[in-house]
Amino acid sequence: MYEEFFGFKELPFNVTPDPRFLYRSVSHRDALAYITYGVFQRKGFVAMTGEVGVGKTTVVGAFIDLFEPSLEVAFVFSTKFPFEQLLFLICKDFGLSADGLNKAQMLLLLNEFLIRQNEDNRNAVLIIDEAQNLSPEVLEELRMLSNLETRDRKLLQIMLVGQPELETLLNMNELRQLRQRIPGICRISMLNREDVENYIRYRLDVAGGRGNGVHFTSDSFDEIYHYSNGIPRLINILCDRVLLVAYVADTRVVDGRLVREGIRDLESPGVSSGRHRVAKPRA
Ligand SMILES: Nc1ncnc2c1ncn2[C@@H]1O[C@H](COP(=O)(O)OP(=O)(O)OP(=O)(O)O)[C@@H](O)[C@H]1O
Ligand SMILES: [Mg+2]
Repeated sequence: MYEEFFGFKELPFNVTPDPRFLYRSVSHRDALAYITYGVFQRKGFVAMTGEVGVGKTTVVGAFIDLFEPSLEVAFVFSTKFPFEQLLFLICKDFGLSADGLNKAQMLLLLNEFLIRQNEDNRNAVLIIDEAQNLSPEVLEELRMLSNLETRDRKLLQIMLVGQPELETLLNMNELRQLRQRIPGICRISMLNREDVENYIRYRLDVAGGRGNGVHFTSDSFDEIYHYSNGIPRLINILCDRVLLVAYVADTRVVDGRLVREGIRDLESPGVSSGRHRVAKPRA
């Protein structure tokens, strides 16, 4: 709606986990380095956690974008289903047809596939997002899956990605065998005030709007930081609304007052920014 007014090529604050927009804060950069190291060292397991909306799936997307040519990736979202269903999804995502197979047959199929990948020198990676939803029983089965190995390397790298509850789950006593196999858990932290500013500038830049003079003042960054607590998804939702408010107000300067107006809009359900002003007709 407002792209033309600001001259963006695309919306700068979408809430999809688009890796092209990845702003590499120290923590996001560390997370990317950690999963890359774990996978390429063939450690067997890596785990990455972070608060809701902090950028976990985006980091995974960036990892896949960077290394896909040398990897064989299966990416599944975990819901609370039993291992057999998860196994089916894993086979499917690796391009294996598991229709009508029982658990033992699926394991055999997967094993043969992983051996072939290893012979071709390809690294197979299973990424499980929303892994905080896995049950201890399913996690234990995943540990067994990671036992597939040759003398010197794991045939399958398993990446567990989830909210902080995943850490609690992995620290359960009954899962200590699994926990021992995970070389540290990497946690993505929220952005600090300086990061918030750089993050917003970076996304505006990628969307191609900087030259068009949309200007965020220093107090606008303070307000956005305060509201979002440095959570990127909340920053995006707020900034998207704030740009709409600015568009309606026919201004390309985003200041603290405008941000507060955007926050009020978001917090009053069913009310759009049009409530405050009537948009001026534009040529
Ligand atoms: N470092 C970053 N750079 C650019 N955009 C980011 C970054 N981190 C998060 N985002 C943006 O924030 C939004 C939420 O990110 P994402 O979906 O990756 O979070 P998540 O941690 O996976 O959330 P959830 O816990 O709900 O699964 C997305 O629009 C994403 O593009
Ligand atoms: Mg996610």
